[in-house]
Amino acid sequence: MAKPAALSPLAIYGMGRFGNALAGALRAAGKPPARTGGRDPGPAALLHKLKPGTIIMLSVRDDALAQVAAEFARLPGCKRFAFVHACGAWGPELLQPLAKAGAKTGAFHILQSFPPQGGASRVAGSWCCLAGPKPLLAKLRSLALALQTHPLELPDSARPAYHAAAVLASNALVAILAQSRDLLLDAGLEPEAAGAMLIPLVMGTLQNVAELGPEKALTGPVARGDYMTLRRHLKAMNRSQALAYRKLMVLTTAFAEKSRRITHSQARALRAVLFD
Ligand SMILES: NC(=O)c1ccc[n+]([C@@H]2O[C@H](COP(=O)([O-])OP(=O)(O)OC[C@H]3O[C@@H](n4cnc5c(N)ncnc54)[C@H](OP(=O)(O)O)[C@@H]3O)[C@@H](O)[C@H]2O)c1
Repeated sequence: MAKPAALSPLAIYGMGRFGNALAGALRAAGKPPARTGGRDPGPAALLHKLKPGTIIMLSVRDDALAQVAAEFARLPGCKRFAFVHACGAWGPELLQPLAKAGAKTGAFHILQSFPPQGGASRVAGSWCCLAGPKPLLAKLRSLALALQTHPLELPDSARPAYHAAAVLASNALVAILAQSRDLLLDAGLEPEAAGAMLIPLVMGTLQNVAELGPEKALTGPVARGDYMTLRRHLKAMNRSQALAYRKLMVLTTAFAEKSRRITHSQARALRAVLFD
């Protein structure tokens, strides 16, 4: 295997969840960022005295990237640097103003959900999707390895599906857990118990998925073809809860049938309740 490229200095612009986690992980790896910054004091101050060839991570909100890229692109000398963003759904094309100004551009997306503070410890072990022209890609790969992530080069065409998968696995899971907690609260459980009791269940489920794969991990009434229990659940819910439950259980039923955990006739009986 080719030797990893030497680690380039890295500066971070945008110190929110991602920027803070990355800066903390770099410090923990003994490779602190060359400089960090944001809106105040702004792009010119960040570039000031940076070594040519420094990689500048633009970790601002996705919807601010075009404007921030244009601000950096107006600075004389920006072409001496490489700019990458941390957005999952897009490739380097988001940084077009910088590419037009002659800078190298790429993407460096750590597949993780970072908290407002203290996300550094979640970086190692995460996957990291990279994009950019060859020499920059080699440098991003070295950075990903220094952070103990799993680097993966992803073609631009795969990025929308890659990010949609991430959003389903992470963000949709959060919404489902909020809905589950609300069902417990509506049933009269104390908020502390309602907030806590689902976590060991989810952890166990994730462990099953990691160890067995989703097909064998599925437990519960759908995996048993138990339509009576689904009917009982629906009776305990309000309209909007039932709507979401039906949609998710239709998806679960299709998955159980496709993975041969239930027969076609069991799936039909479950759907009869869910579409009732
Ligand atoms: N959060 C995650 O778990 C996660 C995971 C993977 C990738 N990412 C990616 O990381 C990037 C940053 O997301 P985030 O979650 O870290 O967002 P965030 O927590 O909202 O932080 C964004 C940072 O950028 C700054 N900023 C916003 N607009 C700016 C502008 N026009 N000029 C200068 N600074 C500006 C914000 O400053 P103010 O507070 O002053 O607005 C804030 O410090 C996004 O591309 C996102 O897709 C995030």
